[in-house]
Amino acid sequence: MSQIEVSGLNKVFRQAVKEPGLSGALKHLIRPQYADKHAVKGIDLKIEEGESVAYVGPNGAGKSTTIKMMCGVLVPTSGQIRVNGIDPYRQRMENAAGIGAVFGQRTQLWWDIPVLESLNLLKDIYEVPSGDFNRNMKAFTELLELDEFLHLSARKLSLGQRMRADLAAALLHDPRIVYLDEPTIGLDVSVKLRIRSFIKQMNREKGTTVMLTTHDLGDIEDLCERLVIIDRGVIIFDGRLKEVKDAFARERTIHLELASPIPDPGRLFRDIPGLAPEEDGPLRLAICFDRFRITASEIVKRVIACAEVIDFHIDEPGIEQIIRQVYEGKLDLNLPEPAYAAGGDRLK
Ligand SMILES: Nc1ncnc2c1ncn2[C@@H]1O[C@H](COP(=O)(O)OP(=O)(O)O)[C@@H](O)[C@H]1O
Ligand SMILES: [Mg+2]
Repeated sequence: MSQIEVSGLNKVFRQAVKEPGLSGALKHLIRPQYADKHAVKGIDLKIEEGESVAYVGPNGAGKSTTIKMMCGVLVPTSGQIRVNGIDPYRQRMENAAGIGAVFGQRTQLWWDIPVLESLNLLKDIYEVPSGDFNRNMKAFTELLELDEFLHLSARKLSLGQRMRADLAAALLHDPRIVYLDEPTIGLDVSVKLRIRSFIKQMNREKGTTVMLTTHDLGDIEDLCERLVIIDRGVIIFDGRLKEVKDAFARERTIHLELASPIPDPGRLFRDIPGLAPEEDGPLRLAICFDRFRITASEIVKRVIACAEVIDFHIDEPGIEQIIRQVYEGKLDLNLPEPAYAAGGDRLK
C-alpha cells in the first residue's frame, strides 16, 4: 500500500447564488438558489513514502481543495483517501500526528503570542518528547534563521518570517508527510532559497514526503522529482519531471561550432519544412528544430558531412514553457515519431 492513496476523489461545493444588494439578499432568503461547483473530479493519485511531488495547475484548478481533503480539513463528496492507511477526515486526530501542513495564505501560529511560545504549545499538543523538540528547534533555528524573531508575536512578523515560523511549526513533530500549499508565494528570492533548502533537507535526510503546490517554477525544478498537473479538477499529467521534458519539449536548439564555413547551410535541410539554420558568424550555426520532425543526431550527421564540427550543444526548453503550454491547452499529447532520424539513435 502506498503512503497516500487517493481514488475517485470528488468535491462539489454548493455555492449560494445571490443577486447584489439588499434585495438580492432578501430574494435569497425567500427562495434560495444554489449552484454546484465541481472543484475536484475523480482524482486518482498514489504517493510513495519519501517522494517529492509538485501539484500544479492554474488558479481555481482544485489544488487547495485536494490538499484540504488530504489533510482531513474538508470532507470529500465521494471517493476515497487513505493517508498512512487511515481516513484523514474520519480519523482526524490520528491523521494530524502523521502530517504537517503549511498554507501560504494563512498561519497556524497564534497571532498574539511570541513564536517561541506557539512552538512550545505545539510541542504539548503533539506530545513531542523534549529531546526531539530541542533537537528540532536547534536545527530549525539554524536552517531557517528563526533567532531574529522567535520572541515576536506572529502579527509582527514579515511574510517571509511568518512562513519560516510556519514551516518550523509544521515539522516540529517530525511528520512523515508535509503538505505545502504555496509556501513561497510573495517571498523574496533569498527567503525562497532558504525555504527550499530546508524542505530539501527534510526530504533527503528524514525521508519526509513532500506534496507542494506552487506557481514558482524554480520551486518545482529545485524540489520535486514528480509533477502532477491538475486543470479544472482533473489530473491531466502525472509523471517524472524529466519525462515531461523528454515527452513534451518539442523545440530544441542545437548550437554548432565549425572548423570551416558551410556555404548556404539552409540547403542541408530543404526537405524539412520550417527548419532554417541561423548563422552567427561563418563558424557558428544555431539550428532550432522540432524534435518530433528530426533528431539532433540527424542534424549533426548532415552538418558533419559538409564540415568538421568542433563542438556542439543542445538547449532544451525549461519546464516553464511546457507548463505554460499545458495551461493554454496547447500541449499536443499525440507525439509522432521523428520522420528524419539518423539510425534511430536519438541524442537527448
Ligand atoms: N469553500 C468553498 N466554497 C465554494 N467554492 C469553493 C470553495 N473552495 C474552493 N471553491 C472553488 O473550487 C474551485 C477550486 O478551488 P481551489 O481548490 O482553491 O483552487 P486552487 O487551489 O487550485 O487555486 C474554485 O473554483 C473555487 O472557487
Ligand atoms: Mg490554492
